[in-house]
Amino acid sequence: MKTLILNGSPRKNGDTSALISMLMENLFGDVKIVNAYDGRIAPCTDCRACRKVEGCVIHDEMQEVYEYLKTCDNVVIASPVYFSELTGQLLNVASRLQIYYSARYIRKEPQLLSRKKGAVLLAAGGMGDAEKAYQTAVRLLHYMNVHEVFPMVLSANTDKLPACEDMEALIGVKNAAEFLSRL
Ligand SMILES: Cc1cc2nc3c(=O)[nH]c(=O)nc-3n(C[C@H](O)[C@H](O)[C@H](O)COP(=O)(O)O)c2cc1C
Repeated sequence: MKTLILNGSPRKNGDTSALISMLMENLFGDVKIVNAYDGRIAPCTDCRACRKVEGCVIHDEMQEVYEYLKTCDNVVIASPVYFSELTGQLLNVASRLQIYYSARYIRKEPQLLSRKKGAVLLAAGGMGDAEKAYQTAVRLLHYMNVHEVFPMVLSANTDKLPACEDMEALIGVKNAAEFLSRL
C-alpha cells in the first residue's frame, strides 16, 4: 500500500504533525510526505504548457509527486486551518495539480492515475469553520483521482487542547488509517 501525505503546516512539531504521526503509526506500506513549507515545490504560474503537452514544465520536487501519484493507493491532506482555509503554502503546492485538469478537460485524455482513497486531517485554533478547508481539500483529492474520502478529522480547539492530547481527533485519525488500509 502506498500513501501520499501533503502536509500544509510550517510547524515541525505542531498539531498537524501530531495528527500525521498518529496516522503513520497506524498505516502500513510505503508513505511519502510532502512538506509544503520546505519550499521545494514552486507554485503554478499558469504558463499553460500543460494545455498542450503532458506533465509540467517546472522541474522540481513535484515531478516525484506526479510519479508517486500514478500508482499510490491513498492521498491524505493534513493542514492547519488558516482563515477558514488550507494554508496558502499548501494551496501553492496544490496549484501544480492543474496538469490533471488540463489533461482531463482541455486535452481530453483518459484518466491515468490509479483509483485512490483519501482523508483530510485538520488542526484549528478554535475560531471554528473548518468546513471550507475540508471542501477545498476534497476538491483537490478529486483532482488526484480519489473516489472515496473519509469524513473530516478535526482537532478543533488547539489553542486550549493541543492535537497530541485531543483523544477524539486521535481516534478519528486511527479510524481514517483503518479506512485507508481496508482493501
Ligand atoms: C495565519 C493564521 C491563521 C489562522 N486562522 C485560523 C482560523 O481561521 N480558524 C482557526 O480555528 N484557527 C486558525 N489559526 C490557528 C491554527 O489553525 C492552529 O493554531 C493550528 O493548530 C496550527 O496547526 P500547526 O501546529 O499544525 O501548524 C490560524 C493560525 C494562523 C497562524
